[in-house]
Amino acid sequence: MTSLLEVKNLKVSFETEQGRVTAVDDVSFSLEKGKTLGIVGESGCGKSVTAMSILRLLPKPAGNIDNGEILFNGKNIRDLSIHDMFQIRGRKISMIFQEPMTALNPVKSVGKQIMEVYELHFPEMSKEDRKRSAIETFEMVGIPAPDRRLREYPHQLSGGLRQRVMIAIALACKPDILIADEPTTALDVTIQAQILDLIKDLQKEIGMGVIFITHDLGVVAQVCDEIVVMYAGRIAERANVFDLFKSPQHPYTHGLLGSIPRLELAPKTKLQTIEGMVPSLFDMPQGCRFQNRCEFVQEVCKSKIPPLEAFQGSHLVSCLRSKEIEWSDR
Ligand SMILES: Nc1ncnc2c1ncn2[C@@H]1O[C@H](COP(=O)(O)OP(=O)(O)OP(=O)(O)O)[C@@H](O)[C@H]1O
Ligand SMILES: [Mg+2]
Repeated sequence: MTSLLEVKNLKVSFETEQGRVTAVDDVSFSLEKGKTLGIVGESGCGKSVTAMSILRLLPKPAGNIDNGEILFNGKNIRDLSIHDMFQIRGRKISMIFQEPMTALNPVKSVGKQIMEVYELHFPEMSKEDRKRSAIETFEMVGIPAPDRRLREYPHQLSGGLRQRVMIAIALACKPDILIADEPTTALDVTIQAQILDLIKDLQKEIGMGVIFITHDLGVVAQVCDEIVVMYAGRIAERANVFDLFKSPQHPYTHGLLGSIPRLELAPKTKLQTIEGMVPSLFDMPQGCRFQNRCEFVQEVCKSKIPPLEAFQGSHLVSCLRSKEIEWSDR
């Protein structure tokens, strides 16, 4: 069966003043209809660059896909013309961007911005129908008084409302795939929960596949079926949510899991953090990229890049030592 989306061996680089750097290296995953894939990892690990590559929205000319395939319903997005890409973006695959303030146009009312999406993808729709659909979509994402809000500009809205407008625009055409890049980080916890519920409801209703990008493993556990853990541009571990939380294999995943607050901890217990820093793209070590922060590091980790291999079934891990580490004793 063809997956809704299959990313195979994606490699992305940027030309910078100090030379070319590889931001995403050999990343592969697939997304099925109606399912949610989470991409997690610390800042700078390549989550947004992966998402932008899927939509072919990398900044040009600096950003480039050097290698790999991005198959949407079996067709390589990399082979599509700019015109075909326009048809897909927003209509078939849409994205909620990390920064609502920069993604919305400050000089157009939010109503105009959502109606433009209908205009682009459904040119036969009448003006009244566009307005009606815009109001319905605003209602669906919980924007109060949608009729009035349509006339407002982004700066007149609170952060939470702006985020909802972004979500409404992304969902306007009921896409096959929604890429949500940190859709809830700027929001308070109650609104976060509402937005997550909303995305889940819509997913059930229209069967869309969702790629959910976040730093927050708590959110991942709530909404995702499958998880990709990225570190410094590569996949450290990939598994279904159950296996990942039950038996994480990569020392980095362990570190991340150790940083989630848990109910059974005594109040004010300090959260575990991972010591050290992600290596710079300009100064990637040979071998495993996590080596400078890994408590299990050995000589071999400093020379050989660990391949992403099966730990069990579809649970994959990229660590030369994972089989020797007895996590249960710890
Ligand atoms: N236009 C660009 N030019 C050069 N390097 C870039 C560019 N865009 C991104 N990068 C680099 O690519 C790497 C991955 O960036 P990306 O934005 O994907 O990280 P991220 O995982 O989304 O982080 P965050 O959680 O902070 O959003 C980073 O090291 C970043 O500096
Ligand atoms: Mg990002």
